[in-house]
Amino acid sequence: MAPQHQPDDQQLPGVHPVWPGPQALENLEQWLGGQARGVRVFILGDEHTMEQCLPELLAHVPQLRDAGTVQVRAGERSKDLEVCRALWTFLADHQADRQAVLVNLGGGVITDLGGFVAATFKRGIRFVHVPTTVMGMVDAAIGGKTAIDLNGVKNLVGAFADPVATCIHPPFLRTLGKREVLNGVAEMVKHGLVLDADHWNEVRRAPLHDLSALAPMIERSAAIKAGVVFADPKDNGPRKLLNFGHTIGHALEAFALEGAQRTLLHGEAVAVGMVCAAWLSWRLGQLDRDRMNAIEEHLLGLFPPFRFQEADHHRIIELMRNDKKNRDDGFRFTLLTGIGSARTDVPITAAQVGEALDHYRRAIAHAAQPKNHPA
Ligand SMILES: NC(=O)c1ccc[n+]([C@@H]2O[C@H](COP(=O)([O-])OP(=O)(O)OC[C@H]3O[C@@H](n4cnc5c(N)ncnc54)[C@H](O)[C@@H]3O)[C@@H](O)[C@H]2O)c1
Ligand SMILES: [Zn+2]
Repeated sequence: MAPQHQPDDQQLPGVHPVWPGPQALENLEQWLGGQARGVRVFILGDEHTMEQCLPELLAHVPQLRDAGTVQVRAGERSKDLEVCRALWTFLADHQADRQAVLVNLGGGVITDLGGFVAATFKRGIRFVHVPTTVMGMVDAAIGGKTAIDLNGVKNLVGAFADPVATCIHPPFLRTLGKREVLNGVAEMVKHGLVLDADHWNEVRRAPLHDLSALAPMIERSAAIKAGVVFADPKDNGPRKLLNFGHTIGHALEAFALEGAQRTLLHGEAVAVGMVCAAWLSWRLGQLDRDRMNAIEEHLLGLFPPFRFQEADHHRIIELMRNDKKNRDDGFRFTLLTGIGSARTDVPITAAQVGEALDHYRRAIAHAAQPKNHPA
């Protein structure tokens, strides 16, 4: 049945509406014809999403056929002040007023960038997120965090600003590459591990190439994120649960950028961070060995190994210290207390981080050997 103008029954709980399933784009069509009738509407995308996803969006949301379109280059480098200037200028040149609406069609780069541009243009215009990556659908487009990078520091400038709604339409993922799908699956694994054991079990058994199997899990993962955000919109408490795997993961992302290695995607870095954090959870007696092994085996089977030397530990730990979320007196980790439960703010020393990194290096060396190879 077609939703009414207030599609409350279709939405996931959270601070802003998250419209899942086949109704997601129908809801958008209705909203544009109702509360946004007669206003100027613009669609922001990157070169991939404008080519691969815009036709699908227009097919489902005919109201958008008259919208202005604006495109930025694909990739993190578009989360940049000069790009913002170009977009603010574009909106001003096209007579966008306070009633205008910006539709952000893309992955986390587009929703972070477009959300920030909309939140700041004329002190804030309305925006809708239409995520087109797994990362966007289960994480980046939910929760009202918008940001750009400055002076090489990720997300240094930004604002909390809620979209009118986030529309989750998994068919957009048909054109997304396998590496990008896995990138988002890392966050789904995380959602299961810290909050929902059933979700962990379904995600670890999921045939990731089968979109019809993945789609309901994406909705569930989005609902988990929306639920955490609802409990802690401004990131002062429970939202820290979502940092699982990120304390080491962020440092590894920065470390990879300094080296000659191929770049490490965020989800790939978080996967390494989750192996380390699961090991620390076991080391502190919070998680039993079988569960730790199951998590490790799954993640090492899903993601390629990230190789570094013992001599690199010092630099990785230094990068962790630079992270705005860490304090001077050691590190505060989110660690598992079981599968589907976690504790935040667990104090961890630099020496313990070093041991966890040692463990990861041993684990990938071991995993790379044939099963019957002597250890
Ligand atoms: N605000 C938050 O809470 C939050 C949370 C997590 C991540 N993020 C941010 O999200 C960004 C990463 O997002 P991402 O992983 O989605 O990367 P992305 O937006 O760069 O997209 C990855 C690549 O996939 C392409 N693409 C997107 N959708 C496609 C589709 N359907 N078909 C084919 N190609 C497609 C893009 O053009 C790009 O080349 C980072 O900047 C990160 O900081 C924000
Ligand atoms: Zn993340």
